[in-house]
Amino acid sequence: MDDLRIPAHVAIIMDGNGRWAKKRNLPRKMGHVEGCKVVEQTVEDAARLGIQYLTVYAFSTENWKRSKDEISALMQLFRYYTKRLLKIAAENNVRVRMIGERSRFPEDIVKGINALESTTRGNTRMTFVIAVNYGSRDEIRRGMSRMMADCRDGRVSPEEVTEELISSYLDTAGIPDPDLLIRTSGEERLSNFLLWQLAYSEFYFSDVLWPDFSKEELVKAIEVYNKRERRFGDAK
Ligand code: IPE
Ligand code: IPE
Ligand code: MG
Repeated sequence: MDDLRIPAHVAIIMDGNGRWAKKRNLPRKMGHVEGCKVVEQTVEDAARLGIQYLTVYAFSTENWKRSKDEISALMQLFRYYTKRLLKIAAENNVRVRMIGERSRFPEDIVKGINALESTTRGNTRMTFVIAVNYGSRDEIRRGMSRMMADCRDGRVSPEEVTEELISSYLDTAGIPDPDLLIRTSGEERLSNFLLWQLAYSEFYFSDVLWPDFSKEELVKAIEVYNKRERRFGDAK
């Protein structure tokens, strides 16, 4: 493990909380409660491994279709974690950043998110990016809408549109693209996650349900990543 190349940016689609609960005859929300504990542990594990950016998919723009009961349980967890993460971030020198459209959340949660970002801004060991009310198509739509407004106001012209410029209009502006994407629970699709940013990332799918994820699983994914020969369209 000593000579393991650690990817700079690991992105995770944390899936399988509901099935984990169902297997135990528990309500779905208990799967989310367990899943959140695993997020805490994973932040610490990733920082210790030397990962520089860890991005997790916590709530998608499509997840509003879930039952009122489940959504309100998830909101309660977000509320709690905006506070709890202040402590975890301080202990681990981690900067927290949220991507997604936050204004749809209740006002106190938006305030909690803003406070978490500003309080942790100076932390340098790892950046922990949480995607909440995030959908890649929605992110691109919002970014392009801002770009067109800038064009209308004379701040940018059509000739200046490069890939870098497009990236700068996305929520992930300034964050390097993920090197490795992990999705748990056996599902093998992107579910509207980072469509632009994952263009050349390596994908790793695990059958483990998110509440059962562990440092061992993370290291296993990095070991598989190490065996991959990365390509970027070039001839080797
Ligand atoms: C992932 O687990 C967490 C969220 C989407 C909030 P799921 O809730 O999707 O769990 P499954 O896929 O139903 O097992
Ligand atoms: C993707 O998982 C979103 C998150 C992990 C937050 P879902 O469980 O919502 O995705 P689908 O419905 O299986 O594609
Ligand atoms: Mg799911």
